[in-house]
Amino acid sequence: MKRDRLLSEMKLHDPNPRVLVADDAPDILEALRLLLKGEGFAVETVSSPEGVLKELDKREFDALLLDLNYARDTTSGSEGLDLLARLQSMDSTLPVVVMTAWSSVEVAVEAMRRGARDFIQKPWDNARLLAIIRTQVELSRALREGQKLEAENQLLRSGPLPALAPKSPAMQSVLDVIRRVAPSDASVLVIGEHGTGKEVIAQTIHRLSRRAGSSIVAVNAGGIPEGVFESELFGHVKGAFTDAKADRVGRFELASGGTLFLDEVANVPLSQQAKLLRAIESGEVQRVGSSKTYRVDVRLISATNADLHEDVAAGRFREDLLFRLNTIEIHLPPLRDRREDILPLALNFLSRHAQRYEKPLSGFDFAAEQALKTYTWPGNIRELNHTVERAVLMSQGSVVSAADLGLRAVHTSALRLEDLPLESVEKALIQKALDRYHGNISQAAQALGLSRSALYRRLERHEIRTSDE
Ligand SMILES: Nc1ncnc2c1ncn2[C@@H]1O[C@H](COP(=O)(O)OP(=O)(O)OP(=O)(O)O)[C@@H](O)[C@H]1O
Ligand SMILES: [Mg+2]
Repeated sequence: MKRDRLLSEMKLHDPNPRVLVADDAPDILEALRLLLKGEGFAVETVSSPEGVLKELDKREFDALLLDLNYARDTTSGSEGLDLLARLQSMDSTLPVVVMTAWSSVEVAVEAMRRGARDFIQKPWDNARLLAIIRTQVELSRALREGQKLEAENQLLRSGPLPALAPKSPAMQSVLDVIRRVAPSDASVLVIGEHGTGKEVIAQTIHRLSRRAGSSIVAVNAGGIPEGVFESELFGHVKGAFTDAKADRVGRFELASGGTLFLDEVANVPLSQQAKLLRAIESGEVQRVGSSKTYRVDVRLISATNADLHEDVAAGRFREDLLFRLNTIEIHLPPLRDRREDILPLALNFLSRHAQRYEKPLSGFDFAAEQALKTYTWPGNIRELNHTVERAVLMSQGSVVSAADLGLRAVHTSALRLEDLPLESVEKALIQKALDRYHGNISQAAQALGLSRSALYRRLERHEIRTSDE
């Protein structure tokens, strides 16, 4: 992650390759600094191996030009050589070019063996030194870019965040769309009821995109008063209005290089929609109170639970803006339309909360599972999460019961046995007997007309956990 962040910083803010030069002779440092600077490199200089480590900690470099001989030990080059091994383990993509006295070819060879990419003998030839540095910078950029792509591909291959765990066909096709559109810069509009995971989807798209190394910056259009909307989005300069005590960068600029997430986009005031459209179309923003324009490079993801097409028809939302936002529309189905996902999500939340509250809970009992699956979940995933959290807190056994969930109106009694496959009917009846006898196996077995061992076998087969386990 750190590498990704640094990479994008390098690309965005630092078109000039940055070179770190280490040598303990001030005149050599100065000569190299002037030479490299004159050729468009950004140069930092240090005079010791420790200085190198400190500088590398601070920022990313495209190349390191390292003298091997330092004052304490001028001939063996061991200080520089020791450093090489460390550098290699810190960041193997940083190209190191070593400098040695003209007579010490063996040291140069040893340095290459320890990971240096090339060497230069002192006194150096300017043209050759520049050629070597340029080549190494190019190579390392390609290498780092390759690694970044590889990391992204791995993310794509390994699929979505584990928590998405979609079992339902509806969500599987949503994820399929996400995988296909995430790497592009296409604008995505995510539509869904409250709590369906629109923000989670926006984050996932960003993480799977080429911009993953940069930020995703959110603007909640529902939470910003109309009066400050423009300044929030585009920034302002000092004195632009009474409260503008200092310059302020807007969200658009902050997101440059990354993704701008316009949450609750239906709430963007009509008066601001034209400005938003202009910024998107021109790729430029102006801070409030200034005529200077700044170039921005953002990918847009928006979310809403409103019907924007209806808002357009009613004159509340500009159609041209909608068409800029919805190159791809993703409709997130409510939880009640993807019941296959309920249990995996619930188990996920269960293990998370059980760990957090240090409760030894291993799952839901049968009635609880049925209650989860049949409830309508008007608050969708958010409500499911809260329900499970509350149940974890309430629970006193080793599994969460239907009573712990406290969902209104749905209990085992509401289960229509004729709607269930035979296997589930057996499971339900066993669970009911266990509930009735408070988990007492002997009594439950007797009530079911089974021997204890026969009941145990069935408990195992149905993966029913009893509270006295
Ligand atoms: N696939 C998922 N796996 C695990 N948790 C999820 C998933 N999707 C959503 N959540 C959780 O559900 C809650 C609601 O998700 P989110 O905030 O993304 O929904 P939303 O659609 O943006 O809701 P709203 O319309 O209210 O803003 C969050 O706590 C989120 O972490
Ligand atoms: Mg949201």
